[in-house]
Amino acid sequence: MTEMTLLAEALAGIAAEVELALDELLPLPEGPEARVVEAMRYAALGGGKRMRAFLVMETARLFGVDRRCAARVAASVEMLHAYSLVHDDLPAMDDDDMRRGKPSTHKAFDEATAILAGDALLTRAMELLAEPDTHDSAEARCELVMALGHASGARGMVGGQMIDILAEGETLTAEQIGRLQALKTGRLIQYSAEAGGILGRANLHQRHALMAYGRDVGAAFQIADDLLDVEVSSEEAGKATGKDAAAGKATLVSILGIDRARAQAEALSAQAVHHLDSFDDKASHLRALAAFVVARRS
Ligand code: IPE
Ligand code: IPE
Ligand code: MG
Ligand code: MG
Ligand code: MG
Repeated sequence: MTEMTLLAEALAGIAAEVELALDELLPLPEGPEARVVEAMRYAALGGGKRMRAFLVMETARLFGVDRRCAARVAASVEMLHAYSLVHDDLPAMDDDDMRRGKPSTHKAFDEATAILAGDALLTRAMELLAEPDTHDSAEARCELVMALGHASGARGMVGGQMIDILAEGETLTAEQIGRLQALKTGRLIQYSAEAGGILGRANLHQRHALMAYGRDVGAAFQIADDLLDVEVSSEEAGKATGKDAAAGKATLVSILGIDRARAQAEALSAQAVHHLDSFDDKASHLRALAAFVVARRS
């Protein structure tokens, strides 16, 4: 079997595992507020490649972390990611009607419910990390909360989304676009790779290697997302494509063109693999993932 087939199997296995965890961790309450949880479940369950969950599970496996603990952290990052997509699709942001092959949350429900569902997914993601079942060590749980907060807040994903909006219609340099993308997408992917090291109480050298890997995979991932927008149909991608140029989005494709942007993504992916040199065969799925993020069609 090729590396890619093995990776596809591993991704599918982890997707099923995190789906179960999400289902358990987002129970429907009694009362009229159940509507917001229905919207949270709509946004978080039943779709997505689960790449961030995969990074958590596979980096945790390097250190022999209990799978149930890792699955909670994987579910947490997928909740946070789902929140970011719900808000990203809102009319005030990218105004997209399709996500993961179905109507966006604000289309399936309404805008107010989508905003609240996003808020509550973010909050639940943090709460879940702090709960005792996530790790025996309170210090490890605290580190997870801090790292996720750092990756997703104004110095991370939200900051990147702000720059993304401000940059619409502007011509940014490659360096500025690199920073935009590192914040908007890179930080959360980097956190996902780091999380297994936090759970596994990895040493500083190992933590740095995982963070460097996550940084490069994250950068390659967003360039590939920008390539999807110009190269893949919305049916295949499961979301609107062909919109970034019209919206004046600052992407590497817009300044370098398709071929040079792809070459850059491939170089970053190869660089990511090198950061895993000190890990043995246990890191083979992580190595294959670096290639997958660039080759993917959705
Ligand atoms: C899409 O992320 C949003 C970006 C950060 C570019 P993914 O491509 O990981 O989305 P899903 O989770 O697979 O739907
Ligand atoms: C979204 O980037 C990044 C976040 C949600 C933080 P995009 O706007 O490019 O993602 P898609 O293309 O809508 O999935
Ligand atoms: Mg966007
Ligand atoms: Mg978008
Ligand atoms: Mg995009």
